[in-house]
Amino acid sequence: LGRNEVIGLLFRLTIFGAVTYFTIKWMVDAIDPTRKQKVEAQKQAEKLMRQIGVKNVKLSEYEMSIAAHLVDPLTMQITWRDIAGLDEVITELKETVILPVQKRHLFQGSRLLQPPKGVLLYGPPGCGKTLIAKATAKEAGFRFINLQPSTLTDKWYGESQKLAAAVFSLAVKLQPSIIFVDEIDSFLRSRSSSDHEATAMMKAQFMSLWDGLDTDHHCQVIIMGATNRPQDLDSAILRRMPTRFHINQPSMRQREQILKLILEDESVDLSVNLLDVAKETDGFSGSDLREMCRDAALLCVRDFVHTQSDSPSEDFIRPIHQSDLEKAIDRNKNMKQRLVCESFK
Ligand SMILES: Nc1ncnc2c1ncn2[C@@H]1O[C@H](COP(=O)(O)OP(=O)(O)OP(=O)(O)O)[C@@H](O)[C@H]1O
Ligand SMILES: [Mg+2]
Repeated sequence: LGRNEVIGLLFRLTIFGAVTYFTIKWMVDAIDPTRKQKVEAQKQAEKLMRQIGVKNVKLSEYEMSIAAHLVDPLTMQITWRDIAGLDEVITELKETVILPVQKRHLFQGSRLLQPPKGVLLYGPPGCGKTLIAKATAKEAGFRFINLQPSTLTDKWYGESQKLAAAVFSLAVKLQPSIIFVDEIDSFLRSRSSSDHEATAMMKAQFMSLWDGLDTDHHCQVIIMGATNRPQDLDSAILRRMPTRFHINQPSMRQREQILKLILEDESVDLSVNLLDVAKETDGFSGSDLREMCRDAALLCVRDFVHTQSDSPSEDFIRPIHQSDLEKAIDRNKNMKQRLVCESFK
């Protein structure tokens, strides 16, 4: 074999190798059913990163797909002002969570006064847990990763673990940040022997990654969870969330404040007494109150539609009266009762 022949052979082999490599890579990409999703996620992540002003941070492929769940604080609408009757919780949250992060230099010497790594909001449905988490992100100016557990479940073996690791590494790169897991019980419920192996592994990994945050005192990443079934949570998870806020059904005073907030911008008759409404709505959650007020407002619209067909000259919707609210309360109570009855059938 001459020298030229060897070089020629090598050359051909290299070309052949390269062509095979790219063909196979192209084919694998084409076969991968999640490719389209990944490309979409990457685009969205890049746009979001630009919006929230993150520059010069290099992200891995997995971090990119998590970054698609970042929330831009500027586009978030909820502020403390949109939450009524929970002033105590808000004050405590400001003192224990937000202040230690924002004024870190004041607490540098103390190990006890470091911000908590885990915060749990728990209580019955519709009382403002998700609302509080959103407002915290907005008001504190933290980067907010709204983690949907379904993002972490990938059918390819091992991908879930890489994604879980990416959640934490991304949060550290973007700190100060909050990883928010709504309905955390669905994701980190008590471990049982019937768990799928991959699920069990992910839970264990999540916890050890969480512990990793603890070892670094300068790390400003907070995991915030919300649940209405705290009893379903794994005890190891509960231990990692020492700062807990119980957001209970609103009391009469709180209901009055919530009603005031809901009806703030609506046209309400002067004679309406919100304290009376609050007294009559025992057991209503914040979201029940909102639905009830919507019903009352719809009664006014219904009247408008009926009177219009009689005398088309009148062109305004009458304000909400006490009687509308009372009708709406009755309707709401009846509906609740029916639901309870049907669930026992
Ligand atoms: N304290 C409150 N002040 C003002 N609005 C409230 C309050 N609590 C509840 N609401 C209303 O109820 C809606 C639902 O509240 P939110 O989503 O925070 O409930 P949640 O506690 O997260 O419930 P779930 O456990 O079902 O997720 C809110 O969008 C808001 O309109
Ligand atoms: Mg919620």
